[in-house]
Amino acid sequence: MLAIIGGTGLNQLGNLKITHRQVMRTPFGEPSGPLTFGTINEHEVMFIARHGYGHTIPPHMVNYRANLWALRDQGAKRVIAVASVGGIRADLIPGTLVVPSQIIDYTHGRAFTYFDGREQSVTHIDFTLPYTESLRQSVLEAAHHAGETCVNGGVYAATQGPRLETAAEINRYEGDGADMVGMTGMPEAALARELGVEYATIAVVVNYAAGRGTSKQAIALDEIGTFAQPAMARVRKILEGVVERYDN
Ligand code: HPA
Repeated sequence: MLAIIGGTGLNQLGNLKITHRQVMRTPFGEPSGPLTFGTINEHEVMFIARHGYGHTIPPHMVNYRANLWALRDQGAKRVIAVASVGGIRADLIPGTLVVPSQIIDYTHGRAFTYFDGREQSVTHIDFTLPYTESLRQSVLEAAHHAGETCVNGGVYAATQGPRLETAAEINRYEGDGADMVGMTGMPEAALARELGVEYATIAVVVNYAAGRGTSKQAIALDEIGTFAQPAMARVRKILEGVVERYDN
C-alpha cells in the first residue's frame, strides 16, 4: 500500500475518504499520531501527519523511527513524503514543486537509525541515491498527467531547526551543492531505506531561503501560508495520480 507523510500545510488530505484510524505503538515509541486509512478515488492509502494532526511536534522532536516503523508494519511498501522547503537555487521560487534527487544531512542529535548495534551485527545501507528512482518518476509522471509543473531533481539540505537558517549558512549550503533547505528530510529518507520501503519526496517551496530573493533581510513567516495553501492543492492532485499507479 502507498503511504503519505504529510508535512506543514498538509495535516490532512481533503481527497481522502477515511475508513478508520489506528493508534500504534512501536518498539521505538509512538508515531506522530494515529495512522489514517482510507481511499483516494477508490485506491487504498494510509496517511500520517508528520507534525501531529494539530501541528504540535517540531521537526527535531518528530519520532521518525516510530512513524516509518508503523507505516511499514501496516503494510506500506512505498512512502511519498510531502515537505515544505526554502528555495536556494534561483529558479526554486515560492510556489514551486520539486521532486528532489539528493540529500545532504546537517541534522544532529536525532534518532537516525534502526541499526544501533543492540542485538544486531553491524549493518550498513547503500544510500548513494537516497530516493527511490521509480517512485520519483511516478510522481513526475503523475504531475505531468495532471498538468502540474514539477521540477525534476535537486539537492535537499536537511537542517536541524526549528530555527530558520542564517544567510551565511545558506551560502555555505549552496556552496556544498544544496538547492533547497528543509528540516524533516533526514533521518526520514534513511530510515525508509533501512526498512526497505520505497521513498520519494514532493518538496513545496514556501519561501526564499534566508538571504535570497525577498528574504534578504528576513523570512516573512506570515507569508508562507500564501504560497503553501495553493501549492498543497496541487500536491493533492498529484497524489491522486500517484495513488492510481500503485494499487496495492
Ligand atoms: N529553511 C528550513 N526549512 C524550511 C524553510 C527554510 O527556509 N522553509 C520551509 N521549511
